[in-house]
Amino acid sequence: MEFFDVISRRRSIRKFKPREISRSEVEKLLQAAILAPSGKNRQPWEFVVLMGSYPRQLADIISAKVDKLKEIDFPTGSALNSAGCIAQAAAVVVVYNPKWKPDTNRNGRRRYIYSVDTQSVGAAIQNMHLAAVDMGLGGLWICDVFYAEEEISAWLGRKDELVAAFALGMADEDPAPRPRNAMEDITRWLED
Ligand SMILES: Cc1cc2nc3c(=O)[nH]c(=O)nc-3n(C[C@H](O)[C@H](O)[C@H](O)COP(=O)(O)O)c2cc1C
Repeated sequence: MEFFDVISRRRSIRKFKPREISRSEVEKLLQAAILAPSGKNRQPWEFVVLMGSYPRQLADIISAKVDKLKEIDFPTGSALNSAGCIAQAAAVVVVYNPKWKPDTNRNGRRRYIYSVDTQSVGAAIQNMHLAAVDMGLGGLWICDVFYAEEEISAWLGRKDELVAAFALGMADEDPAPRPRNAMEDITRWLED
């Protein structure tokens, strides 16, 4: 597919067909992620790939946490919907930043490093998302995992910073493009 077609055809996919995907397909996506640029080439990412029954287990963890949060009237936004997408996914890549420690503070550059790492991990996830489109797969970038951050990390035995999950599968929907702000409204040109 033409590169710009990949960009413009990418959608967030929230319905997946019950079709498995192979480990080599996921490896190709991870390779795309790994090729992303990163500040100082820190490559602040690690991946936990969930396949088989594991996406559903993750969905159950999030749903159980949402139930608890609802009991105390804590707003849970789209978390339950996101859990539903995870449950249908053929694979979920859980993305961690192993470099980030909450007490990292190198000469007051804490925020700087955090921002750099966050941008870097975002680039890796976006590479995965675009590679999925090119391979005829659908994906959903999910930050609703934060609602159950502690539970997920305890389940996976991780102490690093959870960044996001990327749910993956064969799309069972063809959503229209979501609206975008017009370029002229968000861009200022300075030129001679
Ligand atoms: C950082 C990030 C976090 C997101 N988290 C979620 C999420 O938790 N659940 C969800 O359904 N969609 C999530 N999305 C998808 C966005 O809702 C979606 O990208 C946006 O509405 C634009 O739609 P499009 O991706 O189809 O162009 C996330 C996207 C990004 C980039």
